[in-house]
Amino acid sequence: MCEIMISGGKKLSGQVNISGAKNAVLPILAASLLTNDEVIIKNVPDLEDVRTMIEILHSLSIDCEFEGSVIRIQAHEKAGNSVPYHLIRKMRASFNILGPLSVINSEARVPLPGGCSIGPRPVDLHMMGLKKLGFDNWVEHGVVFSKRREDFDDINDEIIIDLPFPSVGATEQIISTAARLEGKRTVLNNAAKEPEIGQLIDFLNGMGARIRGKGNATIEITGVKELHGIEFSVIPDRMEAGTYLIAGLITNSSIEIDGLIEEHNQSLIDKLKAMNAPFKVKNHVAYTESSNRKMKGTFIRADVYPEFPTDMQPQLTSLLSIAKGYSVIQDTVFPERNSHAEELRRHGADIMVKNQTIVIKGVERLEGAPVYATDLRCSAALVLSGLAAKGETLVQRVDHIFRGYDRIGDKLKRLGADIEIKN
Ligand code: UD1
Repeated sequence: MCEIMISGGKKLSGQVNISGAKNAVLPILAASLLTNDEVIIKNVPDLEDVRTMIEILHSLSIDCEFEGSVIRIQAHEKAGNSVPYHLIRKMRASFNILGPLSVINSEARVPLPGGCSIGPRPVDLHMMGLKKLGFDNWVEHGVVFSKRREDFDDINDEIIIDLPFPSVGATEQIISTAARLEGKRTVLNNAAKEPEIGQLIDFLNGMGARIRGKGNATIEITGVKELHGIEFSVIPDRMEAGTYLIAGLITNSSIEIDGLIEEHNQSLIDKLKAMNAPFKVKNHVAYTESSNRKMKGTFIRADVYPEFPTDMQPQLTSLLSIAKGYSVIQDTVFPERNSHAEELRRHGADIMVKNQTIVIKGVERLEGAPVYATDLRCSAALVLSGLAAKGETLVQRVDHIFRGYDRIGDKLKRLGADIEIKN
């Protein structure tokens, strides 16, 4: 169990570079087995989740090397077709391998990824999508089996899939699978529009796929026979960028964040501006300013892109706990994502959760305290509150943070934070 000890209440200074986006690179890695040519992915963050995905590729006998921030992948004629449970259970994004594996092997077996502490996370939309694409699928003893239908070639060449909810993972699963269904044209309606999906589309199109509608709710995929190799660079992680932006604001510091893409972070920028937060963003660089300006509370409703992201909700909750007046937070994507709120109370925040709504009355300052992290973004929120809180904060069970934040200890120390990571 890993812990982070923070001596908080101190100002940060200097500059931080944002690493590549976790949620972009994971589906890209899953889709990379759709070609037997070499795939080179650059600007890859060094994260637990990335290393787990590499282990999954290794378990399928796919060559994969990670050096510096570059991953080289070389799939072979016959990859394995089943992934072990101990790897899939580590992270949900690994389930995205099911479609590509089903395409190249005609059948695949991938354990259910299971739920997690932010609420139930079923995969019914993934399975519905694969079924429509011509892969029968069912669950046996906790494992999802997927098999190309015997009459695959005879079924309709025009496939229409209507997602009842714009699930990020299901959108990616369907796009990657449909990309290599030669002779089939798939129209995906109510698709998710996250920038990471745009990256997956760019990646696949760069390999010779024919996908139209990036950033739209309707995506058209014309399947091709084969895909070729590619060299591809990953966009900066908008959640990491947003987290460091809040680190500057919550500690009332002047710092520079390189790699905050305005377009990808627009809802966060708008919310922080409405809160009167002292910062500016220009040419993908954000600058926070140490200031006497008081930030004010606001209403947050986390929703699908381009609305406010659920993955920034806990971190913003930490900031709102010291903003003047009342704030109300609802999360429509993960309504039960509120474990950070209880922990913030240990810091002296005036915060309560009722009917899946977080209500905050801003306090002057937070106090150091032992707190307990339950998931990735909760860990980030508690590190932020620890940086702001006067005195010592011990964030316990913070291991999750290494799933999503590249070298966070080094980056925060370079900004002058007084933190120690204890394994
Ligand atoms: C992705 C992100 C995650 C983010 C989430 C929402 C990655 C690797 N992870 O997760 O960081 O928090 O988007 O922005 O990109 N749902 C179903 N059935 C399904 C699939 C989803 O009911 O088959 C529901 C989930 O329970 C959840 C909601 O849809 O309530 C959102 O899930 P989804 O958009 O699929 O998120 P993920 O792809 O898992």
